[in-house]
Amino acid sequence: MDINEFLDLVHKRRSIRRFKNEPVSDETILQILEASRWAMSGGDGQPWEYVVVKDEAKRKQILDAWLDPTIEAYWIEQTRVPELRHHHLRTMPTEPPFKDAPVLIVLLGDRRTFQASVLGCHFLMTEGSADAIFQKNMANATQNIHLAAAAAGLGSEWISVNKLWARSIKNILGIPDVLEVHNIAAIGYPAYQPKPNYRRELNEIVHYDGYDMSKYRTADDIRNYILKLREETAPPYKQGL
Ligand SMILES: Cc1cc2nc3c(=O)[nH]c(=O)nc-3n(C[C@H](O)[C@H](O)[C@H](O)COP(=O)(O)O)c2cc1C
Repeated sequence: MDINEFLDLVHKRRSIRRFKNEPVSDETILQILEASRWAMSGGDGQPWEYVVVKDEAKRKQILDAWLDPTIEAYWIEQTRVPELRHHHLRTMPTEPPFKDAPVLIVLLGDRRTFQASVLGCHFLMTEGSADAIFQKNMANATQNIHLAAAAAGLGSEWISVNKLWARSIKNILGIPDVLEVHNIAAIGYPAYQPKPNYRRELNEIVHYDGYDMSKYRTADDIRNYILKLREETAPPYKQGL
């Protein structure tokens, strides 16, 4: 694969939130997880493990457990000024957008692996918080899942998991207490073609040989950026996409 093919893949990967009723082969799932396990990790700690959920009854249990914690998140979101509220939580949630996904990959993390990194990384590095290395390791493993899914012609959605939902998922799947449900990847064949998305232009975010202050964003700029996102984005699954 040359760099242009790689960039094609990066551009092709998009968050997909509705899926065809078509199975995904076990072999493809394992290829996706192969990509994930080769992610970079601080000190080579490799905190990740995966529960692949294809069984319909188990998936239904996970979907059913989604609503109450998401309503909690909805009410917290209502405490923000209306124009900044996240578009996924502007209206009372009723059902998970990823309900059609034939495969859910539950990504687990083991924080005990922090022992693999230099201790100072957790306290002194620019990343800040004590679990920053762990979080970044898990994000790398997640990113590879979604890129690999796109390479396999699949759609995927990165699903954040809040602590309330995680507790139910752990019970449903029998996950040991010490492991953390980090996120879920919903995987399946896309049921729609996503609209083109937006990324900040390279010339706005790249600086050469020092920070170019003409590109510096004030707090107002950031606020306006978020407002623009909010205005332009309605939940894709509610736009019928
Ligand atoms: C840390 C993180 C959490 C995310 N959580 C969710 C989520 O809970 N539900 C969802 O539909 N998308 C989620 N996303 C996907 C983003 O909404 C998506 O990547 C972004 O809007 C850009 O769109 P694109 O992926 O189509 O390029 C998450 C992405 C990241 C990196």
